[in-house]
Amino acid sequence: MLKNDLILRTIRGEKTERTPVWLMRQAGRILPEYRAVRNALSGFKELVETPALAAEVTIQPVDILQVDAAIIFSDILVIPEAMGLKYEMVEKRGPHFPETIKSKADVNKLKVAMAEDVHYTIDAIKLTKKELNGRVPLIGFAGAPWTIFAYMIEGGGSKTFSKARAMLYTDPELSHQLLQMITDSTINYLKGQIAAGADLVQIFDSWAGILSPAQYEIFSLKYIKQICDAIDEVPKTVFAKDAYFARKWFNDINCQTVGLDWCMDIGETRKIIKDKTLQGNLDPCALYGSNESIKIAVKSMIDQFGPTRHIANLGHGVYPDTDPEKVKYFVECVKELSRC
Ligand code: CP3
Repeated sequence: MLKNDLILRTIRGEKTERTPVWLMRQAGRILPEYRAVRNALSGFKELVETPALAAEVTIQPVDILQVDAAIIFSDILVIPEAMGLKYEMVEKRGPHFPETIKSKADVNKLKVAMAEDVHYTIDAIKLTKKELNGRVPLIGFAGAPWTIFAYMIEGGGSKTFSKARAMLYTDPELSHQLLQMITDSTINYLKGQIAAGADLVQIFDSWAGILSPAQYEIFSLKYIKQICDAIDEVPKTVFAKDAYFARKWFNDINCQTVGLDWCMDIGETRKIIKDKTLQGNLDPCALYGSNESIKIAVKSMIDQFGPTRHIANLGHGVYPDTDPEKVKYFVECVKELSRC
């Protein structure tokens, strides 16, 4: 039984005593307590692959920031690795794939991943659930197939992801073959997370906004839809960064919550997306401001979203150099200003 189920009640559209709040990328990145655990290890991957430590850093923000949910510490890139494409996390630079996907032969070497292939995250979820002991819900997550595809083709971060976008034109058939394999892997993985105890799941389409609307519909939305249709055990949140053009289509996706980035107008979005909960959407840079300016920004966000069907969050992951005290203040402001 969950002692704090504010998020789940908000997702169901119920009237609650206040707006729930958590932050994308709250586990890791900003807390000195995370750095301490992380610095004692060989690197990021060792932390992801050690369930007891992954559970520890998952729970840190619940204790320290007093957020209304935990998100399991892992990465979206565990899926390419489980399919056969290894990634490295290069200190201060981000992910790097020594091999990338260039041809049909490369795709044919991959397999559809099963949840057991990501056993360390599944075990981390089981441990976290036990240690949380119902304090707050635990969020499971995966990357959207298009975003995962983009990293597998590109081999790492990129301003344009031009290799990945080019593949959609040069070999649409191969693109669909790979996207389908990622989708099937993601369904297996999310079902494993849910069986292990995840109370809700979020799909991160971080690179949604670099596709044209027509291509987004064919190469991303189609696969997100498959994932949402395959999962009915827990509520689902879809966060498609910069995809303002896709909001109307999310009405027809079998998910309960849609995440907004800070460039999406709240009132306009409420008109476009009916009968769903919205999550977001403060500019992460607002947390570099003074406490006074944070309070004004939170008040404006709370007023625009209104008292129901809103999960307060940032419009993207919290930036690594954000002062944890400002994050705490953000959480306090949401709690105080939204109380009915
Ligand atoms: O929310 C949480 O904090 C849970 C853990 C989590 C991580 N990555 C841990 C991580 C989550 C939900 C992610 C998702 C993720 N990973 C996304 C989608 C969300 C988004 O921000 O758009 C993407 C695109 C990735 C891929 C990725 N992982 C990149 C580009 C990087 C390098 C830049 C950075 O620091 O985020 C990572 C590394 C990573 N993933 C770190 C953490 C805590 C930092 C590495 C470290 O601690 O050494």
